[in-house]
Amino acid sequence: MEDIFKNLPQHTCSWSKGRAIMYKYQGFWNDREFHKGAILAQLHFKAQPSDVLLCSCPKTGTTWLKALAFSIVTRKKFDVSTSPLLTTLPHNCIPFLEKHFNQILKKRENPLVGTHLPYGSLPKSVFDLKCKIVYIYRNIKDVMVSHYHYLRELANLSMEEAPFEEAFNEFCEGFSYYGPYWDHILGYWKAYLENPKNILFIKYEDLKRDSINNVKRLAEFIGYPFSTEEIKEGMVEKIINLCSFENLSNLEVNKNGMHHLIDASPIKNRYYFRKAKDGDWKNYFTHEMIENIDMLINQKLNGTGLVLTGPISRM
Ligand code: A3P
Repeated sequence: MEDIFKNLPQHTCSWSKGRAIMYKYQGFWNDREFHKGAILAQLHFKAQPSDVLLCSCPKTGTTWLKALAFSIVTRKKFDVSTSPLLTTLPHNCIPFLEKHFNQILKKRENPLVGTHLPYGSLPKSVFDLKCKIVYIYRNIKDVMVSHYHYLRELANLSMEEAPFEEAFNEFCEGFSYYGPYWDHILGYWKAYLENPKNILFIKYEDLKRDSINNVKRLAEFIGYPFSTEEIKEGMVEKIINLCSFENLSNLEVNKNGMHHLIDASPIKNRYYFRKAKDGDWKNYFTHEMIENIDMLINQKLNGTGLVLTGPISRM
């Protein structure tokens, strides 16, 4: 395994004081430990036909999607007052492919498996068994800001120590975890166009604007549709409220808890709950940055049918 890394392209984020180091393998950038996890998952993970993969690039709404999907599939077992989400970080409620590939093999409590892997790097059995995939994506500009703060917090740097402009330039050059981000989206988008029944695309902003219909779509797609009775009783709203940013971010576990991602160092759970605001990028981008990123988005996504420009990118 170590030999692989000797010859890989390597990049240290200029603003990170040497703390954020990425390697490029299988066409995407990542931390060494995450790459190792991905390689092991590709070797060892054997999907089941009923598995549903929750896929995303980091900072695009993964935590929210996991909380919602988990609540949907476990709603007969737990009600909103007994949900494990009240005391557990959503990431710890669902196995993470790059970390738990062995554990999933032994014990599946429900069909959900989370991963940040690009489409082309998913383990082969996922394709062989045509497992269902849910993909969440988000306005690139807000992802850039969210990614910046997350990495900055991990590197324990203040905003003065980590200039946003440098982080912006690096993201535009493709240096982001599991990135370039546009390649990540396009990989899943192309797969969706080829097989629309197998992949559900959810836009973070749409999930916010029309939570009820999108949560119903999600439940139906993963095979746990709401009954008429449940809809009448307000089950959809209960799940939405349980998984809302306001509720989750104020829970003790998410305010003060810690968890282990993939390596030994613990991470504060609160890093997954920052502002959850659409359009927060406006507080960071200069006119020049807006021009540059709009041009880049246009160049990368034009003609693909994927709408990330227009109203979404200008929010
Ligand atoms: P911001 O940094 O813009 O606030 P991920 O879960 O993929 O790591 O993404 C993290 C982003 O999702 C953060 O965005 C975070 O605040 C937001 N988020 C976390 N939980 C959420 C929830 N329950 N509802 C909406 N957004 C949420």
